[in-house]
Formats: sequence, C-alpha cells, structure tokens
Amino acid sequence: MTTTQTVRVGLEERSYDIRVGPGLIAGAGNEIKPLIRGRKAFVVTDSTVSGYWLEPLTRSLDAAGIAVTTIVVPPGESSKSFADFEHVCCRMLEDGVDRRSAVIALGGGVVGDLAGYCAASVMRGLDFIQIPTTLLAQVDSSVGGKTGINTPQGKNLVGAFYQPKLVLADTGTLDTLPKREVRAGYAEIVKYGLIRDAAFFEWLEQHGADLIAGDEAVRISAIVESCKAKAAVVAADEREAGLRELLNFGHTFAHALEAAAGFDGTLLHGEAVSVGMIQALELSRRIGLCAGQDTERARSHLASMGLKVRVADIPGSARWKAEALLASMRRDKKARDGSIRFVLARGIGDTFSSDDVAPDTVRAMLQEDLTTTAGV
Ligand code: NAD
Ligand code: GLY
Repeated sequence: MTTTQTVRVGLEERSYDIRVGPGLIAGAGNEIKPLIRGRKAFVVTDSTVSGYWLEPLTRSLDAAGIAVTTIVVPPGESSKSFADFEHVCCRMLEDGVDRRSAVIALGGGVVGDLAGYCAASVMRGLDFIQIPTTLLAQVDSSVGGKTGINTPQGKNLVGAFYQPKLVLADTGTLDTLPKREVRAGYAEIVKYGLIRDAAFFEWLEQHGADLIAGDEAVRISAIVESCKAKAAVVAADEREAGLRELLNFGHTFAHALEAAAGFDGTLLHGEAVSVGMIQALELSRRIGLCAGQDTERARSHLASMGLKVRVADIPGSARWKAEALLASMRRDKKARDGSIRFVLARGIGDTFSSDDVAPDTVRAMLQEDLTTTAGV
C-alpha cells in the first residue's frame, strides 16, 4: 500500500509541510482549512489542468466549508506575464478578496509562479497553498517560495520570495500529464543528483525509466528525495545568498536558450535545463575542473530518458547566435557587475558557483554547440 510522505521545510515561523502521495486532492479541504485565516479561497489554474483536477479540488474545499472562486489562465509559459498578473490580481479584487482570503495554485510551475506572485502582492500578502500537478512543480517550483513572471528581457526577472503554507503533491495528477512534460520534470530530479548527491544520481540511472513509465513507488521516492534536497538548501539559504545558487545548475544556459526559443512551447523549461546542465558540465571539463567521463555519463543518462542534450536538438536553434545567448546570460539574476555567474562541477555530485569564467571560453563552447549536428 502506498502511503503519503511528508517533508518539512524548516523556515522558523514560515515552516511548512510538503505532502507527497496519491489522492491528496480529494482530502485537500481538510488539510488546508486549519492553515488559512479565512474561509474564502481563490483557486488559480490553467485551462488544461482545470479539465482534469479542478472539480475534485472544489468539491473537497466545498465539503470543508471553504468558498471557492476560480481564476483560469491559458496553459503555457506565456501566462507568466504582466498581463496575466494584472488579470489575476484584478479578478481577485473584483470578486471580494480580503486580507483573510487564500490563494491556491492548482497546476504546474507556470500557475504556481504566477499565483504565488499574485498572493504575495494582493493586500500585501495572502495565505498561499501550492497544489503542483506536474513532476517539475512537485520536485522543484512549488517548494522554496520563488514566485514571479517573465518580461521581454528574460525569465523570472520580476517576482518575490513568498513561501506557501502547504504543498500538496498529489502524485495521481501525474497520470494525466503528457510524457514529454514528465521527461522535462525528470531533468530537475537529475539536477539534485548532479549538484550534491552522486548516490542519488546512480539510483536514478537504475530507476529513471520506471519513474518515467509511471511506477508509483519509484516516483514517490524520487519526489520525496528531491523535496528533501531542496528543503535542506532552502532552509540554509532562503534568499539565495550562496548555497541556493546550486539549484540553478544549468539554468544560466537554460534561461538563455528559453529566451532564444521564445517561450512558445518548442522548448520546455525542463528540456532547456537538461541541455543547460550538459553545457555546465562541458564548460567545467573545458576549464579542467571535471572529467570528460562525468559529462558523458550525465549526457548518456539524460539522452536515454528521451531528453534533449545538445543545443542542436532544439528546433530553430540553427538560426541562433552565440553572442546573443551570451548577452542574455549577462541579464541572469546571478550576474554581478556584468560578470556571468555559473554553477560549475568538479564531478557528478560536486558543484560550486563561480564568476571567474572567461567569456571567450563560453563563447567558443556555444559556437561549437550551435554548429554541432544533432546526433554527432
Ligand atoms: P507548466 O506549468 O507550463 O505545465 C506544463 C504543461 O502541462 C501545461 O500545458 C499544463 O497545462 C499541463 N499540465 C499541468 N499539469 C497537468 C496534469 N496533471 N495533467 C495534464 N496536463 C497538465 O510547466 P512546468 O514545467 O510545470 O513549470 C515550468 C515553469 O516553472 C517555468 O516557468 C519555470 O521558470 C518555473 N520554475 C519555477 C521554479 C521556482 O522555484 N519557482 C523552479 C523551477 C521552474
Ligand atoms: N529552482 C531554483 C530555486 O528554487 O532556487
């Protein structure tokens, strides 16, 4: 029998539980009720997720005596925008929000980041609950309090740190998630092995295929391990003064690739992270930090799980220019005084941050990546 597991995020008076297991949405009302101040909730979701999971959630909230207003946004990255932020905040204000109202994000990282930023902003802060429905959101974006939107200048450049009061990761929701999205979420799970836990990476090499196939016990174990890893880092460095930067392994590259792809669905965030992590390992190899066999081992595992591992795997990348990708990286939030900051690797499970990488080394690697034919 599969039971629910709980991971605690320790942040003193802002501590909260991440609950992981099947069937949690059916009991969400009773779990949420003691944690919120009022009896009114705004459920923010997208028009795909709502078709599968909104009705069981509203039924459960209703049964617990929580009045629900639903706000539905279009699916996809383009909803993390100023326009959707305005739309969601204004809907709350028009529909009688008060300081005791709660915001519940039901969806993937897009809905979670957008709803969380609205929760942080309306009335200067409402109770916030995350109900992540993608693998990526269950292992990463719903945990740790980063919320925000994209701007024409790049990803996640406007937002707030705002912790939820509870995360309910109902693993049953993954049964309706397209396999491409499952694979994209898997890249963020591999990230935890690559940054700090070589034994977890090895476990994933053995069990990754079962996880992607939907094995319930394996996916619960992987989600719980990922949440424990993230909770430990967030508890030690909530506002990313140092250690939390490691959670951005591969992301300096990934965010530039996503911006180049144009947030139109051709490149999912997790797919970009997969390519970006290989670029970070390859950069580390080129500057003599990391053995080539570690880069190859990671590349081989991600590729065997059906993930993209080269820029040339990304549709449309033949038109991209190394210089434009570099310019995009300079706008990364980790950049300091114009220097790009990278998370580099000494090997699998051993990473650190550095702003001491010559731009020419990065440019040369990008130029090679852009001209390497897929499959070579
Ligand atoms: P997403 O929210 O766009 O969801 C992916 C797709 O799956 C969408 O089309 C959605 O409608 C659909 N979907 C979601 N749940 C479903 C389900 N159970 N069944 C069927 N379809 C479902 O994407 P994502 O990968 O979850 O999140 C990506 C976003 O998360 C990016 O914007 C990224 O920047 C952000 N992110 C944030 C953090 C953080 O710490 N805040 C961390 C990592 C990523
Ligand atoms: N996903 C990176 C972080 O939460 O810090």
